[in-house]
Amino acid sequence: MPLWLRQREREGDSLPTLTVKSEKEERRIPFSPGQSLREILDGADVRVRAGCRGTGACGLCLVRVEAGHVDEPKPNESTYLNEEQLTEGVRLACQVIPRQDLQIVILSPAPESDWRSLSSREGRCTARFAAFPLREKEKDTYGLAVDLGTTHISLSLLDLANGECLAGRYGPNPQMLFGSDVMTRLITASESSEQAEVMSRQIVKAIGEALWDISSREGIDLQRVKSIVLVGNTAMLALLSGRNYSQLLQPSHWTRAIDCLPSHTDAWAVAWNVHPNARIEVIPPLGGFVGSDLLAGVVTTRLTENGAGCLFIDFGTNSEIALWDGQALWVTSAAGGPAFEGSGIECGLPAESGAIYRVDEQQDGIFDFAVIGDGQARGICGSGLVDLIANLVKTDRLTNMGRFTSSIPGTGFALVGDKPGIFLTKNGVDVFQRAKAAIGTGIHVLLERANMDYKDLRRLCVGGAFGSFLNIANAQQIGLLPKIQPELVELCGNTALAGCADVMLSDIAARHLALLRNSLKIVNLSQCPNFDDIFLEHLYLQPSQGE
Ligand code: FES
Repeated sequence: MPLWLRQREREGDSLPTLTVKSEKEERRIPFSPGQSLREILDGADVRVRAGCRGTGACGLCLVRVEAGHVDEPKPNESTYLNEEQLTEGVRLACQVIPRQDLQIVILSPAPESDWRSLSSREGRCTARFAAFPLREKEKDTYGLAVDLGTTHISLSLLDLANGECLAGRYGPNPQMLFGSDVMTRLITASESSEQAEVMSRQIVKAIGEALWDISSREGIDLQRVKSIVLVGNTAMLALLSGRNYSQLLQPSHWTRAIDCLPSHTDAWAVAWNVHPNARIEVIPPLGGFVGSDLLAGVVTTRLTENGAGCLFIDFGTNSEIALWDGQALWVTSAAGGPAFEGSGIECGLPAESGAIYRVDEQQDGIFDFAVIGDGQARGICGSGLVDLIANLVKTDRLTNMGRFTSSIPGTGFALVGDKPGIFLTKNGVDVFQRAKAAIGTGIHVLLERANMDYKDLRRLCVGGAFGSFLNIANAQQIGLLPKIQPELVELCGNTALAGCADVMLSDIAARHLALLRNSLKIVNLSQCPNFDDIFLEHLYLQPSQGE
């Protein structure tokens, strides 16, 4: 048993469990009844072969039911399964809808892939904003929305006729090999045009691989993809197009518009195997360090439609912040590093299977934690880190200056036992504090510039995968979020991807995005005379001053 942490009893013990046995491991996946076996497996990153969108039309998703009750085989299963197979319990995973505990073996595992399926919910905005009306489109044409992040790339394939999300993927940005931060990559690209070309090709190839995964596993004809829209931070878009990335190394360009639109995209359409006349559009960024991902988020959250005092934070490696004061949209970027995405700290993981995403203190003083996928903990993701640090401060194991007290050994706080040794170290806390302080400084400066105060905030939208599991009270307790009433805080998921999809699907959303550019005021934090003082103030693990 770890010193202070124990794995929480499976959350929602009333939920049935799917046990998946393989030679390597046994996975136990709690599930909500109503989904097919394939959907449950996809949601837990367990890949079964597939070649259709779960319609029973390909016969590839073979599993064998070893224990538990399932309904009788559906007629289309008999097309692919013979009597002997059916007697042995072989079934098509997409046709079985389990309602109680079930144990299966996957007979046709899919090859490993870097690309994780996004559920249809993750592929669109997770908050319930009023949808934009769709533009008229011919039937059976698809569109692809792409959010190009520093650490990850997310894609959503949509039916242009009705806006339905057909498939989504989420995978690593291969440029991470050149450095986890934007500056290192920009320097690398500026040093050698060959390197820059490699970096551009890496992204094109990665999107192609994600599309291939969608096409092969969902049976989707990519030739029907006639519209592709990409958003991202300025550096990622410049490195993709191979244009003007060197300018981003010069502070004088940070608040100016930078032309990083591709000069031609024919080769991309070929590499992605989409319709040869597909319209490929890169949404231009706002300035050197404020990307079109932020604009897309502002569009999808309808941030500027509800009066003054609306704040939007899009958490990422470069977190972007927007404040609507009723007339102007104040925006900035806070380069806090990838701590919230689970990078840069020893025990960090993205919000994926095996990551501790929630930590609670129980009455006996021991912390309980919950793991995504309910398997063995391999590390901790951003929301878990917020909970853990807030609880350590609350229980006086960590000071608000980020120092462990004498009750914690020098190696740091043991997350899961001391072997193989997952620790939150002093360095991990430092990295988190710097990321938090960068965002706190951004909010502080925007409020100052807009002549507003924390008490003027009436709405807070939190974007980014990190936000999905965030405990708002804990985030406010350590000063990561302004302390406004919790019901005014909205956790919105991947707003960049959702906004990108909105712009592709709706003329009104596209017009809204174009109009936003007229009301923008870009703030360069590094040029604020009192930046250091504000940053130091926000390093403290306590509610922000003035709230
Ligand atoms: S038959 Fe199940 S995914 Fe095609």
